[in-house]
Amino acid sequence: MEAKRAKAVAAAVVVSLLFLLVILWQMSMARRSAVEREELRVDYSFLRKVAGLPIKFRIEVLVAATDNFQVLLGSGSSASVFRGILDDGTSVAVKRIDAAERGDREFRAEVSAIASIQHVNLVRLRGYCIVAGGPRFLVYEFVANGSLDKWIFPSAGGDREDQQCLPWALRYRAAVDVAKALSYLHHDCRDCVLHLDVKPENILLDESFRALVTDFGLSKLMGKDESTVLTTIRGTRGYLAPEWIIGTGVSDKSDIYSYGMVLLEMVSGRRNVQLVGGGAASQTKWSYFPRIVNEKVRQGRMMEVVDERLKSGGEPPAEREVRTLVHVALWCIHEKAEARPSMARVVDMLERRIAVDELPLQTEMIISRILASDEPNVLEDGAAGDTRAAAAAAVAVSGLESHLSTSYSLDMSDLSGR
Ligand SMILES: Nc1ncnc2c1ncn2[C@@H]1O[C@H](COP(=O)(O)OP(=O)(O)O)[C@@H](O)[C@H]1O
Ligand SMILES: [Mg+2]
Repeated sequence: MEAKRAKAVAAAVVVSLLFLLVILWQMSMARRSAVEREELRVDYSFLRKVAGLPIKFRIEVLVAATDNFQVLLGSGSSASVFRGILDDGTSVAVKRIDAAERGDREFRAEVSAIASIQHVNLVRLRGYCIVAGGPRFLVYEFVANGSLDKWIFPSAGGDREDQQCLPWALRYRAAVDVAKALSYLHHDCRDCVLHLDVKPENILLDESFRALVTDFGLSKLMGKDESTVLTTIRGTRGYLAPEWIIGTGVSDKSDIYSYGMVLLEMVSGRRNVQLVGGGAASQTKWSYFPRIVNEKVRQGRMMEVVDERLKSGGEPPAEREVRTLVHVALWCIHEKAEARPSMARVVDMLERRIAVDELPLQTEMIISRILASDEPNVLEDGAAGDTRAAAAAAVAVSGLESHLSTSYSLDMSDLSGR
C-alpha cells in the first residue's frame, strides 16, 4: 500500500515537473519572440527614419503639437495648414484635409506622390494621420518663409514699407530650384510624377529663400510608357495648360506650361490673369499679361515687364538674366505642348548651358480667348471679347486637337481661383 502511494506521488511529481518545464519553455519562447518583435520594430522604425519615410501619428500628438490647431499658416481649396511643434522640438506644418470624398482622393494622391521620393527642392512629408470618418492629416516639415506669392506680389492695401519683396537674385535662384524639383519629378523618379498645380502658392521658401515645391493634392503618376493621362480639370485658373482645358490629356508638358506662367509672375511681380477696373461687372476686364509680355519683348521693350520695385534700390536685375527668364517662360507657355522644352532642358537654359536667344513664333494665345469667353466677357489687352465658339475656332486654327465636345463646355467656375 505504502509502495503504491509512493509511486503515485513520484508520478505526480514527474508530471508536475514536466508541466512546469513546458510552461517555462513556452514562457521563454514568448519572451524571445517579444524581444525579437521589439528588435524588428526598432529596426523597422530605424530603417523608416534613415530612409526618411513618413510615419503614422496619433491624432492626440497632432492636437498637442498644434495647440489644438491654433496657428493657421495658410489654406487652399480643400485644406488648412497649421503650425506645430513635435515633442522632439521639430517644427512642422500640419495640413488638415477636410473635404470628404475629394479630400480622400487628394490625401491619397499626395501620399502616393511624395511618400517615397526625396529631393532638396521638395517639401518633406514627415507623417500622416487618419481619423476614422473624419479629416485626414499630412505632417510636413515647417518651411520658414511661407509661400512665394507673398514674396512676389504686392499685398493689397499693405503699406510700402512692410511689403515683402524678394530681390532679383533670390527670384532667379528660386526659379532654378523649382525647375530642378520638377525635372526630378518628371525625369528621375521611377514613375513620372505630374504635379499639376504648379503656382506661387505651392512653392515655399525656406529660411535661406531656397524654394521647395509642395502640395501634391492634384498630382498624378504617369508610367514611363504613357505619354498623357486623362484627368478632370481641377487646377487653378491662369496656370492651366490649353490641352488640359480642352481635354486632350495632360502630361509633363502641362506642368511646364504652369511653370512658365510662374516664371512670368516672378519677373513681373503681377498675376498673369487678373481682373482690372472695379465697380460694375460690365466695367471689369480680364487682363492677360503673357500677351503684353509677348508684344513688349518683340518690340525690344523687355525691361518694361520687370517688377518696378526691383528697379529702385538694391542691385537692379541684369538684362541678360531677365532675357533668359522671359524667353524660357515664353517657350514654356507655348500653346502646343510639343514645342515646350523639357524640364531638364529648362534647367540647362536657366543655368546657361544652353543658349535661349530665339523666341518661339508668335502664337494665338488661345487661353486669352477662353478667358474672354468667361464672365466678365471682355479682354483688356487687344483680344476681342469673343465667345466660347470663337475660342473653339482659335483652338482648331492653332493646330491643337479639337476635342472640344464635352470637355470644352466646362464651366470655368469649376476651377479654383486662388
Ligand atoms: N510646410 C509648410 N510650411 C509653411 N507654410 C506652409 C507649409 N505647407 C503649406 N503652407 C502654407 O499653407 C498654404 C496651403 O497649403 P497647401 O499644401 O498648398 O494646401 P492646399 O492643398 O489647400 O492648397 C500654402 O500656400 C502655404 O502658404
Ligand atoms: Mg496649395
